[in-house]
Parts: sequence; structure tokens; C-alpha cells
Amino acid sequence: MMAPMSDPQKHTPEPSRRETLQIAALGTVASVIAPHAQAASTSSTLTFTELERVLDDHHHVAPGHTAQVFLRQGDPIFAGAPKYDPLAQTAGAQKRQFGSESDYIGFMPLPMGSTSSTSGLLCVNHEMVHSTLMFPGVMEQYDDKRSKEMCDLEMVAHGHSIVEVARIDGKWTVKYDSPYNRRITPLDTAMALTGPAAGHKRMKTRDDPTGRRVLGTFANCAGGETPWGTVMIAEENIQHYFGGSPRGTSEEANHADMKLTNEVYFSWHKHYPRFDLAAEPHEPNRFGWMVEIDPYDPTSMPKKRTALGRFKHEGVGFAFTPDGRVAVYSGDDEAFQFIYRFVTARAFNRSERKKNDDIMDDGVLSVARFNDDETLTWLPLIWGQGALTPANGFNDQGDVLIESRRAARLLGATPMDRPEEVVPNPVTGTVFAALTKNSRRTQTDAANPRANNKHGGMIEFLPPGYERRAADHGATTYGWRPFLWAGDPTQADSGAQYNADISANGWFSNPDNMTFDPKGRIWLSTDGSINFDRADGLWAADVTGPGRALTRHFFACPSGAEMTGPCFTPDGTTLFVSVQHPGEGSGFKFPTTRWPDFQEGVPPRSSVMIVQRTDGKPIG
Ligand code: FEO
Ligand code: CA
Ligand code: CA
Ligand code: CA
Repeated sequence: MMAPMSDPQKHTPEPSRRETLQIAALGTVASVIAPHAQAASTSSTLTFTELERVLDDHHHVAPGHTAQVFLRQGDPIFAGAPKYDPLAQTAGAQKRQFGSESDYIGFMPLPMGSTSSTSGLLCVNHEMVHSTLMFPGVMEQYDDKRSKEMCDLEMVAHGHSIVEVARIDGKWTVKYDSPYNRRITPLDTAMALTGPAAGHKRMKTRDDPTGRRVLGTFANCAGGETPWGTVMIAEENIQHYFGGSPRGTSEEANHADMKLTNEVYFSWHKHYPRFDLAAEPHEPNRFGWMVEIDPYDPTSMPKKRTALGRFKHEGVGFAFTPDGRVAVYSGDDEAFQFIYRFVTARAFNRSERKKNDDIMDDGVLSVARFNDDETLTWLPLIWGQGALTPANGFNDQGDVLIESRRAARLLGATPMDRPEEVVPNPVTGTVFAALTKNSRRTQTDAANPRANNKHGGMIEFLPPGYERRAADHGATTYGWRPFLWAGDPTQADSGAQYNADISANGWFSNPDNMTFDPKGRIWLSTDGSINFDRADGLWAADVTGPGRALTRHFFACPSGAEMTGPCFTPDGTTLFVSVQHPGEGSGFKFPTTRWPDFQEGVPPRSSVMIVQRTDGKPIG
């Protein structure tokens, strides 16, 4: 079977040198932008009317579209599940309801292997909870009075939901009685650890002397769909879940490298010793991985694929080498961390799905060094090679993977401005990386050219052969080039850089997630524009031709929210998005918004939304 996915043979032509030069050299922004700053552009292939800049307590979508609130935190997803009651939520209820703070959305067509755009499984990450909103009046001081029952409720609001959905007479509905519907949580979902670090002595705990079984997943940010129709979900900010002190334990330095230094937001460690860094110093080594889930088999056990490395994975994106091996890209979202690529040892088997079951357990993980001559070198993280030896504390490949960050640093990888999603464009064969921001940067380089980088930017990797529609995603050396540098282009000293025809609504800050529509145009979401008095939301642009990097505003979130998870159906007529943490930064009594319910006493809650054109045609 095949999920809708890029085929290495199906790429469209690439931008010419002239088009590439539409983006002028950094530092000449004012001269590039000034003559056209407010001009209405005709150079884009996108035809939607751009949304006007807005910042209020509602969501807004470009004219000619509908945006339907589809699944809110607490909405039942099983037949007979209890209704959401913010003052009487229990773990038992929440376990049968949609989780909190939606992020990644994958649409997996039904039947499996089809390209249906009217029937499928929505696979949605629930990255975190805001306890002050979840427990009105109890948690407002962060005074840590959380009972075990409250911790259990927080835990089951995390994780992942799989929900069967169908479009009937143009309207999407949930199939509550579907056998596929499933909640995956850190409280009670057993998972396997697989690959070179599975069974390692640093993975063994009191609860799991094998080092091969772990309970659950959390901090699941973005994700992606594999070519064989599974989803992979990222474990990102795991440091907020482990309390206690790691000082004096064998893992003290390793935990410091992952910021596991009692930066705890939760109290799980008070009720579950496995979350206590002193009591169980190996437990954090079992988080920070990519987790593979088969949504088409509701009885399947999720697998943490250790071959892909351990760090704060933002998400994952897939492409192929010319001989059919699978390349997997992933960013490590923290200031001065790195971008990684894993290439499988075996080729993808198109005809026999089961043959791909363990393809992610054997291959080579590499990390990116961005050279100032606009080349990119992939440095392999292979035990015994270079600095990755016992002299530096690496006694096997398991050590290298558990401490991927330290290994990458020793190899000379380029520290980046917070790598968020890194996603291959299935039409062009190039790869887009969002670097969200890094206000701590002082030393600049070509790929991170701004000190005190408040706005972030996006760069594009150019694997050899991409111009011939035969990109080699296994090559050691790529080219790369900027796509855009975010921020306000009318500020001469901002360093912002877009297409010269950018409108006053078209600029943004802090790119985070992205997807590509069926024509290969980029749709990118932001997390942080609100710091510059703009709503976070969604922008779209061509990636080739005269409209390259001409970002146009499409969707604005309610105040406090970031936009996550953009995902199209295969035909491009439906766009799923997540509105994450509406009202963040305000207390329960006076939240800046009570979106989407707008009822006194009901907290703002994250939701998956469905966007369609009013005429039903493909969006864009
Ligand atoms: Fe969960 Fe990097 O955002
Ligand atoms: Ca987030
Ligand atoms: Ca993110
Ligand atoms: Ca972010």
C-alpha cells in the first residue's frame, strides 16, 4: 500500500537562477522591499484574497472560506463517552475524550492505501496541558497542590488521538463507533523501544529491567506520515515532566544537556517515582525519541525508534534516495541545537506493507553542518568513528544515540536558531526548515545570519539531482539557500527578507510548522508573532517562480494561541489546522479569550478546525 506521499520520480521543474535571485542578498532589505511594500501582487499562483492583519479573541480565515471548530479538548471521541465538564473532569472521562493542546495532525485515508479525501483517520498530537486552565481556582499560583487524581487527568489529556472522520454532504463528522478510535497516553499505553539503544543498560529501570518496554509518550509536538501509512510523533520538551535533582547520578551531565535540571511544570514525580530524576535517572533516557504508531491497527503497540536519535524532536519529514531508501529529517527545537537526517539501510517496499515494519531500526543518523559557501555536509553519528569513541564516553551506538546532542557537537554540527519542522517538498524535492528564533545568538554564520534573532527564518536544502527531479536524499553534500528571513520588512534594520511584492499582511514572525498543498506551495504556521502584536496563524506562498517567498496571510488565531498541525486532504479541498493554547498567558478568571465556547466558566480550549472553500474547490 501507499499513503499519499512523494514519489522520487515525480518532481516538477525547479526555480531558475533568476527566480532564485528574486530573494536578494541579506542586508539589502529596505531597497528590495520599499518600492512595493503595499502593492497588491499578481505574481503569486495563489488566488485567495489575503486576510487582513487582525488580533482579537476570535479566529479569522481568508474571505471565501469556512472554518469549523471540529474537535475541542474534552469532546467525546467514543460512543457513550462523557461530555466535557470543566469543573468535574476526571481521568476516566478524559481518556475517552479528545486530548489537550492539539499539535500535529495527520490525515490517513480510508480505506488504507487509497487517496480518499472524504474518509480517513485523523491522527492528532496533544502536546501538553495548561493546568491553570484545567483546574480553575486550584492551580493559579502554581502552588503545586496537585493530587494524584489531578496528575492522572493531566497525563491522559496528553499523548495522541486517532479518530475516524468522514465528509458527508460536504460536512465533516466524527464516527464515534469506529473500531479505529484510540487514545494513546503517558499513563497507560505500553510501548516498545526498538533499534540500537533498546535494551541498553542506560535504558533499564526498576519497572523495566529489559530496557525494551516503556509506558507512554508525552510532549508530542509535530509528526509525519511514513510512506507505508504509519505516523511518527515527536517527543519534544520532555524536561518539563521530570522533577527532583539528577545531581550525583550517573546521568547528571546527560540530563543537563537535555535541560533535565528540575525545570518541572508538573507534579507527576511526586506521585510516580519514575518521573523523579534522583530515584530513576534512566527513565528520561526513554523519552526524547520519535514514536511510530500504526493507526490502521488499533491493537498495535507504538514503537520508539531509537535509531533516529534522542533530542527534543520537533517533528519529522520523509523523502527517498534514488534507490528507494527512506530519508527522515528532524529538527531539535532548542537554541543552538541541530538538524538531523536518518537514512534507512533497506529500501522501502512498496508492494508489501509489513516488510517496512522495522525499516526504521537500521540505518545511519547524520547531523548537518552548514558551510558558508552554501553547501551542507551531513556528518554521520557512527560509534567508533571520529570523536565518537570510549575516550569521549561513547562505548557503543546506544550511547551515541542516547546522547545525540553531545555526539553532534563533537562532530562539528552547526548550532541553529531553534530548528522546528524540517519537511521535504514532495513536488520540488527540496527540503524546507523553519528556524523559529534565537534571541541569545551573538555569533552569526551564513545559515543563522542575525544576532538577537527575534523573528526566525526559513532555509531550503538542495539535495543533488533535485533540478532533474531526481533528488538524492542520501547524499553527503547538499546545497542550501535562504527561503525567507521573518520579521517586518518595512523596518530597514530588521534583516527581514521576502519576495519584493510582500504586502503589509504578508509578513510574520517565528515560523514553526508547515505543509505543502498538492501543487507544492508551502503553508506555514507561526508561534510567537503575538509578541509583535500580530495574531499567530497561517501564511502561504509559492516556492518557485515569481511568487517565491511571497507569503500571504490566510488564517489568524484567537489571542494567545499558536497555529499548529496544518494538513490537507489529498485533493486539497480540506485543510485541517490546530489552534493551540488559546488564552495562554492569562489566568482562568480573566482569560484573554474564552474561544471557542465563549461561555463564562468554560476555559479556552485547543481545537482542531476544518477549513474549506465555500465553493468546495481546492484551497489556494
Ligand atoms: Fe512544540 Fe518546537 O514546538
Ligand atoms: Ca507548542
Ligand atoms: Ca512546534
Ligand atoms: Ca514553537
